[in-house]
Amino acid sequence: MTEFRLATRVVSGSGSADRVGELCAELGGRVLLVTDPGIVAAGHVERVEAALAKAALEVQRFDEVRGNPTTLDVDRCLAVAKAFQPDLLLGLGGGSAIDVAKGVNFVLTGGGAMRDYRGVATASQPLLPLIAVPTTAGTGTEVQSFALIGDEETHEKMACGDPKAAPKVAVLDPTLTVTLPPFVTACTGMDAIGHAVETAVTTKRNRLSELFSREAFRLASANLARVLGDPDDLEARGNMLVAATFAGIAIENSMLGAAHSMANPLTARFGVVHGQAVGFALPHVVRFNAQDAEIRELYAELARSAGLEPTAEALAARLSELLHEAGLAAVEVPAEAAPELAAGAAEQWTARFNPRPVGAGDFQTLFEQACG
Ligand SMILES: [Fe+2]
Repeated sequence: MTEFRLATRVVSGSGSADRVGELCAELGGRVLLVTDPGIVAAGHVERVEAALAKAALEVQRFDEVRGNPTTLDVDRCLAVAKAFQPDLLLGLGGGSAIDVAKGVNFVLTGGGAMRDYRGVATASQPLLPLIAVPTTAGTGTEVQSFALIGDEETHEKMACGDPKAAPKVAVLDPTLTVTLPPFVTACTGMDAIGHAVETAVTTKRNRLSELFSREAFRLASANLARVLGDPDDLEARGNMLVAATFAGIAIENSMLGAAHSMANPLTARFGVVHGQAVGFALPHVVRFNAQDAEIRELYAELARSAGLEPTAEALAARLSELLHEAGLAAVEVPAEAAPELAAGAAEQWTARFNPRPVGAGDFQTLFEQACG
């Protein structure tokens, strides 16, 4: 038996952010805009607020979201939301702002605290409509029903999800991504590539996720070097945004795998940025998983879809090349840290969906290969 879901209306193209007013007006009259100081500084908030003003909407702005948001960000935004009583939420920014908007939506509509919504299908009440406008091409949170929120006290990364929490609309405007620092473009792009490659083979993959994984990989592998070479290339920026969103749709249907399990301890222990950590692990995970004949075929298909020789090895080699093209190949992690990192990776829930069973011993070998 199989089931898949497409929850979000996707509006894309240069200038689509200027349609946010009319898109919000279809869903309500009072808009809580959730964003962060960097997006204000880049001028994107002013632009979106102008679009909202044109549609005569009442708008309250919360612009204090921090990177890697925690329950503190949710609580601060929630206080503003409770005072304002919005009809809908508008998340504008990278994954952080959109995830805080999702998190606030759970607690505002259902009460309690953020940690009550850890897990899957945790909202019993209807949620407010959410419009997501990503300013990075990477996380795919604009089409997902999960918010990643850290616990301010325990530092646990909580995945809080419910099908009702998926954004009603995602607006993909490449003009919002041209101001990204090159390192952010590189890391978020590598993250999207990691999502495409991992979702293509997980134990939960289905026909829909396979379709989106392949197209996401084809687009991202062809456009990452283009956006890094010419940050103003709107066609390539648009392709990266669509790639990240397609990979996000794939995650929603297929979950992730061992490269994401390895990335989390690399970030926690050595501060390696998420996308770089995923890219660092990915070629080694592909070679590990390719020992299974069925998975080897899926990787070959993925390679073929991107115009490569249809083999798993060609895919792994291309992934190493992409990491170099993105300027992310230099990761300083000592091989002696492999056992500790492996123990951390084995605890990650994404490891459960990897197509080949993968334990602490396997992770240790993978870390030694990656660091070697
Ligand atoms: Fe990721």
